[in-house]
Order: sequence, then C-alpha cells, then structure tokens
Amino acid sequence: MLSAAVPSREVFTNSSDETILRGREIGERLKPPALVLLYGDLGAGKTTLTKGIVGGIGAAREDEVTSPTFTLVHTYDRGVRVYHVDLYRISDLHDLETLGLEDVFSEQAIVIVEWPDRLKLRTEWPIVRIHLEHVAEDTRRITVDDSTNL
Ligand SMILES: Nc1ncnc2c1ncn2[C@@H]1O[C@H](COP(=O)(O)OP(=O)(O)O)[C@@H](O)[C@H]1O
Ligand SMILES: [Mg+2]
Repeated sequence: MLSAAVPSREVFTNSSDETILRGREIGERLKPPALVLLYGDLGAGKTTLTKGIVGGIGAAREDEVTSPTFTLVHTYDRGVRVYHVDLYRISDLHDLETLGLEDVFSEQAIVIVEWPDRLKLRTEWPIVRIHLEHVAEDTRRITVDDSTNL
C-alpha cells in the first residue's frame, strides 16, 4: 500500500510524462493484494497513469501497457500479477461473464480498474482510490485517497 512517506496526495501534472512519473511513484509503493480504482472522464489520464503504476510495480515496461478498452482486461505478469481492467464498455451481464473478474481476487495481485462505478466490485482487499481531473489541455489534477492510510 502507499506508505506515509508519499509526500502529497494531490498533485498537478503538466504532461503525460509527468502523469506516468506520478504513476510510477504510486506503483513502487503498492504491495499485493491491492485494488486501485481510477475515476475520471475520458481523456483524464487513467490509462496514462496506469502505464506508470504498472512500470513502478515492475510487472511490465510502460510502453507495453495499452488501453484495455476493447478487450476489457489486460494482464501483466512479471514478478507481480497485475490486472488492468477498463469497464467503460461494459453494457450487460454477458460482458461480465466473459470477463472472468471473479477470479482476479482469488490470488495475490494488483487490480487496477478504470470506470469502477460501472460495476459493484466486492473485495476485502485494501482499496486505493485515485481521481483524475482534466484541468487544462495538458494539466491534470491527480488525487490519491488511500483508505488504509498506511
Ligand atoms: N498531464 C497529462 N496527464 C495525462 N495525460 C495527458 C496530460 N496532458 C495531456 N494528456 C493527454 O490526455 C490523454 C489521456 O488519455 P488516457 O490516459 O487514455 O485517458 P483515459 O484513460 O482517462 O481515458 C492522452 O492523449 C495524453 O497524451
Ligand atoms: Mg483509459
């Protein structure tokens, strides 16, 4: 989980590279199991932040992390297993069945979810909520709410 050493819970980034850097800091502090919920509109930077998080965890290179919008789930597996889920296109239960999401909480993993409000996710795992807001063309506000407060 995020440690108390994380200096600031709210940061502004002025480029996608800065957002990736912020993601890397978060990923370096995450320990499985953890559920990371990414809130924010289209283009807010959720997938960009995920590149950094996955890179920081060490499960894949940042350029290997792409949006799972159409496949719904991407899995990265170097050392730590990371599921990157995008629920934007979830429209019916059939989609849910093909997702196999019930399995992801049965192992030590890190699960990162874009559009988490689309689904009721039930888990005992520690949850980190991150809100991304589009402030200006290249500026994003990234707010981390670590409920476990480690
Ligand atoms: N500060 C920033 N942080 C993140 N993305 C940014 C930033 N400034 C501009 N962008 C651009 O905004 C878009 C964010 O897209 P993406 O990460 O896919 O968003 P989401 O997954 O939330 O829909 C990208 O085209 C990226 O280049
Ligand atoms: Mg996305």
